[in-house]
Amino acid sequence: MKLWGGRFTKPTNQLVDEYTASIYFDKKLASFDIQGSIAHVEMLKACGIIPEADADTIAAGLQTVAKKIEDGTAVLTAENEDIHMNVEKLLIEEIGAVGGKLHTGRSRNDQVALDMRLYLREAIIEITELIVGVQESLLNQAKANLDTVMPGYTHLQRAQPVLFGHHMMAYVFMFQRDVERLMDSFKRVNKSPLGAGALAGTTFPIDRHLVADKLGFTGISENSLDAVSDRDFVVEFLANASLISTHLSRLCEEIVQWSSAEFNFVELDDAFSTGSSMMPQKKNPDVAELVRGKTGRVYGHLMGMLTTLKGLPLAYNKDMQEDKEGMFDTVETLRGALALFAPMIETIQVKKEKMDAAVREDFSNATDLADYLVGKGMPFRESHAVVGQVVLACINDNKYLLDMSLEEFQSFSNLIESDIFNVLHPETVVNARDVAGGTAKNRVEEQITTAVAAMKESNNWIQLQVKTIRVLSE
Ligand code: ARG
Repeated sequence: MKLWGGRFTKPTNQLVDEYTASIYFDKKLASFDIQGSIAHVEMLKACGIIPEADADTIAAGLQTVAKKIEDGTAVLTAENEDIHMNVEKLLIEEIGAVGGKLHTGRSRNDQVALDMRLYLREAIIEITELIVGVQESLLNQAKANLDTVMPGYTHLQRAQPVLFGHHMMAYVFMFQRDVERLMDSFKRVNKSPLGAGALAGTTFPIDRHLVADKLGFTGISENSLDAVSDRDFVVEFLANASLISTHLSRLCEEIVQWSSAEFNFVELDDAFSTGSSMMPQKKNPDVAELVRGKTGRVYGHLMGMLTTLKGLPLAYNKDMQEDKEGMFDTVETLRGALALFAPMIETIQVKKEKMDAAVREDFSNATDLADYLVGKGMPFRESHAVVGQVVLACINDNKYLLDMSLEEFQSFSNLIESDIFNVLHPETVVNARDVAGGTAKNRVEEQITTAVAAMKESNNWIQLQVKTIRVLSE
């Protein structure tokens, strides 16, 4: 008989059982479900709602059920629909009818909202930690490449030279925003919905704050209807995950380009590349391509969740069971990508001399020639036109600015003097961008200092949250 079978005269059609069950995927929530139930039963005891002895029997029984689910001896069935009812059934099998007291003052609606939050709390901490790991790899590459000049691009056309370290730091700051978004979203996840009951609260004199404290939440959701119908925290996580994926994907695209013969700026370590089954010479950036590709499913889950919630009346609706698979898949997708990314970035071989050669074969110092003329009193619009003429002449002559003689320069403007050769040297060009956030070496070093401080704060936050959660599970 079903836990809710009382008012039914027939067994459920088996297809209905199979279709409506969530146990296939919500079994992932087992440990969180039991953690929540133990806190709930301890509160029932503390508030004198159920006898002490019963509460202790239930708590011990739940521990046994947890072990049996973990070692695979417990049988989870679609007939029992979801993880909540499976656990309750197993508990009753374990300790008898007294197990039926567990669900006092609680509904699966507040229970599932609680489980989702407990799961996501851990996931957010883990993902944050993984991102900081990626940031560390990028930071190490930045530190190792403070003298590596590469062409910087706009429109994928060579624009102005930048330090490779500067380029790496751009990603460090992108990921820093991701970390900050995750940490901020954590505040909204970290509220206990338990005690909202099905939708209206409960008639029992429960203590919502006590349960919240036991589970390490910083507070409770303020409105019972909102508590059971809110999945904003899932949407927020999926949106944050989408941006993280975007950032990873953009870096992937660069890695794919840079490791092509056309760019030839980096070489991926053999351990992080794959071969072709047909072409013996191939070394493919499969990891970068696949991370880029998996961005699609993460965006998909965000769209899916938003669409599921759109138009749902308050409070809980069965539609909301669709909140899980996309969230789990997103966590797993990010976990896989981020875990690979840190060592992949760390082991990338940067071809400094190829980047250097590329910078010498472009006009990325043209702005500096224009700025030089401005320094000599020429209006920028005019100098822009003059340098355009110089570039055109070079293209016709099949050469670059630094191949010009002083006489040739002076035929375009007699403001140009012999110091121009130093001004147009790639390293000078880079170090001339000596402005906060710029690509000059000392400015990139400043960025590194700022990022290191921010990452230290992220690590402190992670440690604090991990400690809270560990204390809870002890
Ligand atoms: N399996 C359900 C879900 O994931 C649990 C809540 C079900 N509540 C209910 N009243 N049917 O959403």
